[in-house]
Amino acid sequence: MIPMVDLKTQYQQIRLEIEEGLLRVLEDAHFILGPNVQAFEQEAADYLGVRHAIGCASGTDALHLALAAAGIEAGDEVITTPFTFIATAEAICYLGARPVFVDIDPQTFNIDITQIEAAITRRTKAILPVHLFGQPVDMDSLMEIAERHGLKVIEDCAQSFGAQYRGRQTGTFGDAGCFSFFPSKNLGCFGDGGMITTHSDEMAEKLKVLRNHGSRQRYHHSIIGYNSRLDELQAVILRTKLKRVDAYNQGRRAAAHLYSEKLSGLPGIVPPHEGSTGLHVYHQYTLLTPNRKAIMRDLDEAGISSAIYYPIPLHRQEVFADHYRGLSLPVSEAVAEQCLSLPIYPELSSEQIHTIVEVVKCHAGG
Ligand SMILES: Cc1ncc(COP(=O)(O)O)c(C=O)c1O
Repeated sequence: MIPMVDLKTQYQQIRLEIEEGLLRVLEDAHFILGPNVQAFEQEAADYLGVRHAIGCASGTDALHLALAAAGIEAGDEVITTPFTFIATAEAICYLGARPVFVDIDPQTFNIDITQIEAAITRRTKAILPVHLFGQPVDMDSLMEIAERHGLKVIEDCAQSFGAQYRGRQTGTFGDAGCFSFFPSKNLGCFGDGGMITTHSDEMAEKLKVLRNHGSRQRYHHSIIGYNSRLDELQAVILRTKLKRVDAYNQGRRAAAHLYSEKLSGLPGIVPPHEGSTGLHVYHQYTLLTPNRKAIMRDLDEAGISSAIYYPIPLHRQEVFADHYRGLSLPVSEAVAEQCLSLPIYPELSSEQIHTIVEVVKCHAGG
């Protein structure tokens, strides 16, 4: 049996350190916004090279809070990609703003930067790029457009912890970077967790107030905020894993490179593209194939998991379909038809990759 992600093996490698830290929290009985959250925020900020990192309850909340702190309001438009997890667009909708979907680049699966300007209207307030599957967006071009039009930039880094664009970490280019620590993420905790990064002192201050019931001082509330805090138990786990995240990402990259070496040149299989300006951290290893159904069936029969990230682009989702009826985004629609994600995690062995590739190969060419 080969799963999409193997959290059990990873846990065994760090078990003692985690259990010791968790026990200490249980004994200290300081569970919310305590010393581990504070230390993790500092360690994460140092690792990423950003002034502030603010923990919160999930990646979805990170996006919601960051958009709110950036001043996004009802009636505003936020340009984003249709080929992402629903949370990217949900966060925009929570504020009464409208997601404006721009098609994706067929190679990187990230938002097609060349189509962004045509989507800007007088209501556009922000761009929300997603570093999908761990592949960094071309942030130089995106920031240039945002600056020229006076738009905010909120990066969705849920899948890109440790990814770099021209030597700089994702989540450090825009007004804010939003991370998810969902267990299967490149840096994951043992439940829900998230974080927002920013260079701005003002934004950081707003975010701290927003995540904690609009409160700077206990029982004094200046605005309507949220209950969205990272807890101490999750912070212990994240501190333990942060020390190893480079090795985890290297393991993912090595696995991806081995897959691509074995799968490239096969008819009917397009391995994922890796841009030369960044460090791709392969949250997913997602190829394109017209033979997806047959490959998935055979993988399943061989006890190998596979998944479709994502089968339906957001403008075609039931929740949005009425609002985007006439919208055609052909690249995202075509990619959604052919994308197939194979198992990838730092501990995936060469033998396992070999086994998976042998099944996939049977369908090369149809
Ligand atoms: C691209 C993207 N954005 C946002 C999220 C939301 O993160 P969370 O599940 O922590 O709320 C996820 C992951 O689940 C994601 O993959």
